[in-house]
Amino acid sequence: MKIVVIGGTGLIGSKLVNKLRKDGHEAVAASPNTGINTITGEGLADALKGASVVVDVTNSPSWEDAAVLKFFETSTRNLLTSEAAAGVGHHVALSVVGTDLLSESGYFRAKIAQEKLIKASSIPYSIVRATQFFEFLKGLADISVDGDKVHLPPVFFQPMAADDVATLVGTIAGNPPVNGIVEIGGPEEFRIDELVRRRLASLKDPREVIADPNARYSGAKLSEKTLVPGNSARLGETRFETWLTQPAGQIPGAPPQPAGVSAVTKDKEGQKKAS
Ligand SMILES: NC(=O)c1ccc[n+]([C@@H]2O[C@H](COP(=O)([O-])OP(=O)(O)OC[C@H]3O[C@@H](n4cnc5c(N)ncnc54)[C@H](OP(=O)(O)O)[C@@H]3O)[C@@H](O)[C@H]2O)c1
Repeated sequence: MKIVVIGGTGLIGSKLVNKLRKDGHEAVAASPNTGINTITGEGLADALKGASVVVDVTNSPSWEDAAVLKFFETSTRNLLTSEAAAGVGHHVALSVVGTDLLSESGYFRAKIAQEKLIKASSIPYSIVRATQFFEFLKGLADISVDGDKVHLPPVFFQPMAADDVATLVGTIAGNPPVNGIVEIGGPEEFRIDELVRRRLASLKDPREVIADPNARYSGAKLSEKTLVPGNSARLGETRFETWLTQPAGQIPGAPPQPAGVSAVTKDKEGQKKAS
């Protein structure tokens, strides 16, 4: 199938394009960097010609309230209009677990608007709501900083590796539309403050993480389970401690892990192997 990945040069998009190609699909990486822009419409009609599926894994360059809302509304509207004209049969979009409960946040008001446009459109769709990526734990600290301390609410979440996000989104894109929401998450539950503290320690980032029940997540108040997916969520396999030993978990530019520091994982046949 021809599958166009909008945002195909980003963290999830680039992994997804590789996985779709390995699965034998014709995957097109679409983004301003490849001459395709969902805000201006540049290159969009050409890219969608003959496409069966479009996967939207874009993100807004600005997370300021008005800018992010304008980005997701304009981008999604343009995309859905172009997909209707091209006869695309499946629109897949990446959203976030708990999005509908997070309307106090400008970023999540934009994701709510994106989801609404998709549901109201004529294109069959699958909205994939993922939990926070391990790769985003430092970013989570960055957006939760007050002075030199990171304030996070000690509530639960179930984060996942970007590789697993790409694998699960790829599987959903290769199957018929569900015309609804699919949740995906990681294999383990943590308290946010605890895991961000561990991630900063692994990066030798000296910022102190404070468990603060009044702290907000991207501007929104959380309850204990807002960010935890439901029981029917599809789960990635990668555990946090395993991910830390992989290149994505290392300090950028740091030398490879010394021999002897390894995690035990399972290969495709289920055999235990050191990684
Ligand atoms: N971070 C998390 O923990 C998390 C959790 C769940 C869901 N999500 C969702 O995951 C999605 C993808 O996140 P990500 O971290 O992979 O994003 P990312 O690495 O920031 O990549 C964003 C992509 O969007 C593209 N883009 C920006 N403006 C565009 C435009 N006008 N037209 C077409 N493409 C455009 C970028 O292209 P260029 O490279 O050309 O700029 C890039 O390929 C987001 O929608 C986010 O809400 C994130």
